[in-house]
Amino acid sequence: MSEPHELRVDLGSRSYTIWIGPDLLARAGELVEAPKAETIALVTDASVAGLHGERARNGLATTGLRVEQFTLEPGESSKSTVTLESMWRWLAAVGMHRTDVVAALGGGVVGDAAGFAAATYHRGVPLVQMPTTLLGQIDSAIGGKTAIDLPEGKNLVGAFHQPRAVVCDTTTLQTLPDHEFATGMAEAIKHALIAPGTLADRLTAQSDVITARDPETLATLVVDAAAVKVRIVQEDETEQADRAFLNYGHTLAHALEALAGYAGPTHGEAVAIGMMFAANLATELGYADRVGVHRSLLEAYDLPTTGAGFEYEDVARTWVRDKKYEAGMRFVLLEDLGRPVLVRDIQESALRKAYEAVR
Ligand SMILES: NC(=O)c1ccc[n+]([C@@H]2O[C@H](COP(=O)([O-])OP(=O)(O)OC[C@H]3O[C@@H](n4cnc5c(N)ncnc54)[C@H](O)[C@@H]3O)[C@@H](O)[C@H]2O)c1
Ligand SMILES: [Zn+2]
Repeated sequence: MSEPHELRVDLGSRSYTIWIGPDLLARAGELVEAPKAETIALVTDASVAGLHGERARNGLATTGLRVEQFTLEPGESSKSTVTLESMWRWLAAVGMHRTDVVAALGGGVVGDAAGFAAATYHRGVPLVQMPTTLLGQIDSAIGGKTAIDLPEGKNLVGAFHQPRAVVCDTTTLQTLPDHEFATGMAEAIKHALIAPGTLADRLTAQSDVITARDPETLATLVVDAAAVKVRIVQEDETEQADRAFLNYGHTLAHALEALAGYAGPTHGEAVAIGMMFAANLATELGYADRVGVHRSLLEAYDLPTTGAGFEYEDVARTWVRDKKYEAGMRFVLLEDLGRPVLVRDIQESALRKAYEAVR
């Protein structure tokens, strides 16, 4: 087996390593680096448990750790107060000590919910992220944001809790449904657009091999796309400034998802349309015209470039309720490829025109 790729997240005493490569679940026990742990509380969801649970349990158990498993229902509804309570009580029932480890095996839902349980149980126990979606491996498992939802809104209750390690087994991505893979690609494209470098060119040139999901090719993609997030998190761990750039395309995306009652476009589709909107808005405001680059990247991965659907007025009303609203709307735009900026006080006529281009 080839050696895994290593990405270091440098956050002083909260630093950790992201391990990336094929078949890493088999080595999970040695990679989690938890010398004082006796128990691993493995949290996963029912789909992932069936596909990858056994490899994860065996991998963790190689170092003599006792592995206990808690299985969530797949889907966003598991990021709830009810699920959290049952997780906390389960952690108590299995006799979790402060030096034991919660391991989150699954997508962003498992990572966020198990992460929040780890952030709060005993005022915080060690957490290891073992993401199995592309979105998880390049985005949600990195950076320490954990959260659950309320009926009043998504991610309203949460905490920053950095993991001790992140284990990205790119072989798990083979079983990901196509629309989940596409959602991860929308975030990879986002990272390519907001960071300087050649990732955008490579994503365009290599769309065939990436879509074929060869685990080694995916490992390179995950390393490059995750590195963008790592760099931004290192600069701004708690989102005081530059971490907001990761919301590129997301202001419109969140509005479209909410307006459709979370039963419309997938998150990736919404983000794709949101980035096209941002590209049009940037052009409208006199920044570099990169609409064509956006379109060819998104089309290479079968992501939509128009089709927002809703009336502008409905979208504008939803924006005002956005969690990131801060005495006025602000949008992440690109002055040019790899040069994101936060822009406030944009004229309504420009917003409307850019929106009509993706409606
Ligand atoms: N904490 C952060 O910084 C952050 C960042 C972005 C998104 N998020 C959160 O992440 C969540 C979305 O994450 P997601 O897109 O990974 O969704 P998810 O966790 O719901 O996973 C998507 C689906 O894929 C299934 N699945 C997961 N891995 C699989 C595999 N290897 N093979 C087959 N099926 C698999 C799951 O069972 C689920 O049904 C949202 O709740 C969002 O708020 C958090
Ligand atoms: Zn997203």
